[in-house]
Order: sequence, then C-alpha cells, then structure tokens
Amino acid sequence: MTFVIRPETPEDHAAIDAVHRGAFGGAAEAELVGTLRRNGDIVLSLVADADEIVGHVAFSRLALSHSPARASALAPLAVVKERQRRGIGSSLVREGLNRLAGSGEDLVLVLGDPAYYGRFGFTTEHAAGLQTPYDGSYLQALALTDEGRRARGPVRYARPFAEL
Ligand SMILES: CC(C)(COP(=O)(O)OP(=O)(O)OC[C@H]1O[C@@H](n2cnc3c(N)ncnc32)[C@H](O)[C@@H]1OP(=O)(O)O)[C@@H](O)C(=O)NCCC(=O)NCCS
Repeated sequence: MTFVIRPETPEDHAAIDAVHRGAFGGAAEAELVGTLRRNGDIVLSLVADADEIVGHVAFSRLALSHSPARASALAPLAVVKERQRRGIGSSLVREGLNRLAGSGEDLVLVLGDPAYYGRFGFTTEHAAGLQTPYDGSYLQALALTDEGRRARGPVRYARPFAEL
C-alpha cells in the first residue's frame, strides 16, 4: 500500500471524522477535531491519503505564559484499524514534526504512551518543567529549537480540550 502525507482540505473533513470515530470507537476525538477547526485553533492538520483517507493528525495551539516559545499539542492521532502497524501513524507524526520545525515552531506536547511517542524524541523529562492540566507519566514534550528547550511554566490548551 502506498500513501502520501499532505495537509487536509475541506473535502477531507468527513473522512477525517470517520477515521477518528473508527479508530477510537467513539465520537469525542472526531468532535474535538471539528471544534478545534471551527475555533481556529489548528496549527497543522495532516492526512494520510491512500486514495482514501486512512489516517489523520492534528496539532493545535498552546499558550505558554512564561515563555515566548511557539508550542502546539499533538492530538488526536489515528489510523483506520485495517491499516494500522504499517508505518502510517509514524509517517504522520514525523511529517508533522518536520513541517512544524520548518515553520519556526519551538515545542510540541503530546499525551500518550511513551512506548509509542518516545521513538519520535518525545520525553516525559522535558515535559516535567511545564505545568498543564495533563501532568503525569503520559505527558511528553519535544523541543524543536533552543527556545523550546528553555520553555518552562504554565501551559494552556485550546478550549475544546477542556470539554473532552
Ligand atoms: C496509535 C496509532 C495512531 C498508531 O498508528 P500506526 O499506523 O498503527 O503506527 P505505526 O505503524 O507507525 O507504528 C506501529 C508501532 O507502534 C506501536 N504502537 C501502536 N499503537 C501503540 C500504542 N498505543 N502504544 C504503544 N505502541 C503502539 C506498534 O506496536 C508498532 O511498534 P513496532 O513498530 O515496534 O512494531 C494507531 O494504532 C491508532 O489509530 N490507534 C487508535 C487511536 C489511538 O490510540 N491514538 C493515539 C492516541 S495518543
């Protein structure tokens, strides 16, 4: 199977919704994407396109009050069940991180399994200097720049996360 990773277009919205509903088995993540999009919180939204949409990742704006770092949250990430474990999720994350680095972003946070996100360079250690509503062993951070490495202090997520 071949696929390309590319930015979402309006024609992809329904397929993205279906990817999250199928992969997570509920509506919460699909609704989160829709609300983040409507509110203008999305920094980057990528799809995996294999003639149909088989995966999606969103990065949304984070507000840091004690740092000038430009930061985003990776969430949600999903790949359709039948296409998992073929590198699609990893490609979405890697392409996202490359694009964010290229556009001058400093820091990315993710809440998830360190066994999965560690392979991309996310660490719980770096997240330890940040205060978020999700502090704990699943919160990980990846600095893309020195500004990102210096980032400390309170972090505010886009409002739709509070409704999850
Ligand atoms: C997590 C997810 C996006 C990974 O996508 P994918 O295309 O299957 O991932 P890849 O093929 O790039 O990577 C597969 C690797 O990740 C591992 N992996 C997959 N899901 C994992 C998880 N939840 N925790 C730890 N490792 C995981 C696999 O064991 C595999 O490891 P290996 O390469 O050492 O064998 C996909 O499984 C999914 O959509 N899951 C349901 C939704 C979800 O949980 N999203 C993440 C929320 S934080």
